[in-house]
Amino acid sequence: MKAAVRYFTKTGNTKKLADAIAQELGIEAKEITAPLEEKADVLFLCNSVYWAGVDSKVKQFISDNKSNIGKVVNVSTAALIESSYPQIKKLCEQSGVSVSDEEFHCKGSFKVMHKGKPDSGDIQAVKVFAGKIVG
Ligand SMILES: Cc1cc2nc3c(=O)[nH]c(=O)nc-3n(C[C@H](O)[C@H](O)[C@H](O)COP(=O)(O)O)c2cc1C
Repeated sequence: MKAAVRYFTKTGNTKKLADAIAQELGIEAKEITAPLEEKADVLFLCNSVYWAGVDSKVKQFISDNKSNIGKVVNVSTAALIESSYPQIKKLCEQSGVSVSDEEFHCKGSFKVMHKGKPDSGDIQAVKVFAGKIVG
């Protein structure tokens, strides 16, 4: 099974999860600006929400790379919402891209909220999660 990791971050929180997944799988986490050059059976799509919405670059990435995505596994951080999963699922459906029911979410620091998140526990948990997904 071929896996890939892409992330979008504004303040660095989501990159921590992306790097941990990539380290666990022995691959490289790349920014969302890097297109998928070959088919990924599993794409760990690491993202967040800003003023309640997923960034337009994430939307564009899904649309531009749909033919090279076997299945999206959503990985998100946020300060308030429980997950970006519903938004990502909707966007993927609009592009005809499959989304795994399994996802990873944890809190991400924002101003005075959730200082230090994702923390070492989250990093460990996302590594275990990625390992289970890829088998
Ligand atoms: C400009 C901005 C707007 C945000 N808006 C929301 C929001 O509407 N809901 C929420 O749950 N978190 C919100 N957050 C918090 C981020 O989702 C959280 O800090 C996340 O971990 C950021 O990920 P990043 O560091 O990878 O960019 C916002 C953060 C920023 C910087």
